[in-house]
Amino acid sequence: MKSVVIQQPDELVIEERPLPTPEAGDVRVKITLAGICGSDSHIYRGHNPFAKYPRVIGHEFFGVIDAVGEGVDSARIGQRVSVDPVINCGHCYPCSVGKPNVCTSLVVLGVHRDGGFSEYAVVPDKNAWHIPDTIPDKHAVMVEPFTIAANVTGHAKPTEHDVALIYGAGPMGLVTVQALKGVYRVKQVIVVDRIDERLAMAQRSGADWVFNNGEQSLQAALDEKGIKPTLIVDAACHPSILQEAIALASPAARIVLMGFSSEPSQVVQQGITGKELSIFSSRLNANKFPVVIDWLKRGLIDPEKLITHTFDYHHVTDAIELFEKDQRQCCKVLLTFGQ
Ligand code: NAI
Ligand code: MN
Ligand code: ZN
Repeated sequence: MKSVVIQQPDELVIEERPLPTPEAGDVRVKITLAGICGSDSHIYRGHNPFAKYPRVIGHEFFGVIDAVGEGVDSARIGQRVSVDPVINCGHCYPCSVGKPNVCTSLVVLGVHRDGGFSEYAVVPDKNAWHIPDTIPDKHAVMVEPFTIAANVTGHAKPTEHDVALIYGAGPMGLVTVQALKGVYRVKQVIVVDRIDERLAMAQRSGADWVFNNGEQSLQAALDEKGIKPTLIVDAACHPSILQEAIALASPAARIVLMGFSSEPSQVVQQGITGKELSIFSSRLNANKFPVVIDWLKRGLIDPEKLITHTFDYHHVTDAIELFEKDQRQCCKVLLTFGQ
């Protein structure tokens, strides 16, 4: 089989590898589609502290089970599946409280273990989620990015009465907008970004109001309209955003952070406690595959609004470079395998 391998930072090869045999409890997936994410680019460029090389990247992938290991029902062969990249131990403290996404021995496919930019991948049986026939391939490959939004909203528990503010109209901001509008029917969703083309994408994904905060002060614009957001999601992830979010938030608001910056954020406790704000963080997803598959079944979200490009995997380098260089035109870039 062919696999996309990052040999070491900045060195990508399409390598011939032996077809893997599923071990006990595993299934083998013949991959059809995979999505490129910022973290794939970070591993490629050597900017992911968790990555070990060589590595087959890719943690957003969909395909068909073509072999099963011992102890796995052979009726699974032929099933269309999306793969949850989060592998956990099942017995540590975080696992015991329903947070496999921060398991003390967390393994993420495509980061700590070989992932989905490959003609085949072997994954644990329980990570391969059956996709009903009514959900098309292009939606199924987008389950993982939407699980990030499901995890965020699982913490924040949005209601129709919320006034939500989302920083960032990249893929993560857009999945969050779609969840807030399509699933939770939040009455007002505001999105801020520095790039007008991305703000236009946010509008297509359902944002009620978009604002370019590269040109003008968000604080002044919200004050003028008398808006105090009750739910703020930082999907732009600059360390300066937390401080602004605390200042803009309504009393009793919730703030959700998604960033991994190692730079400090400057905050004062009075700003948080004075309004009794709840500040959550959200990483990857905790058992959210069935949640998002249900959203797709019910037509509550539309992944196609995020997909801007599709490449054959032989052109993976061009695909990643376009994804990295053109934030105005690119959102989700997909790779096809074996088509
Ligand atoms: P992206 O880079 O495509 O999008 C970020 C957007 O934020 C860009 O459109 C950019 O113009 C905008 N932006 C940057 N600074 C801003 C500011 N100060 N105000 C308003 N907008 C600003 O990235 P993507 O894929 O959407 O991911 C967003 C962030 O989420 C990344 O930092 C990534 O590391 C993080 N992430 C976190 C995950 C988690 O589970 N916690 C999962 C996936 C991504
Ligand atoms: Mn991703
Ligand atoms: Zn664990």
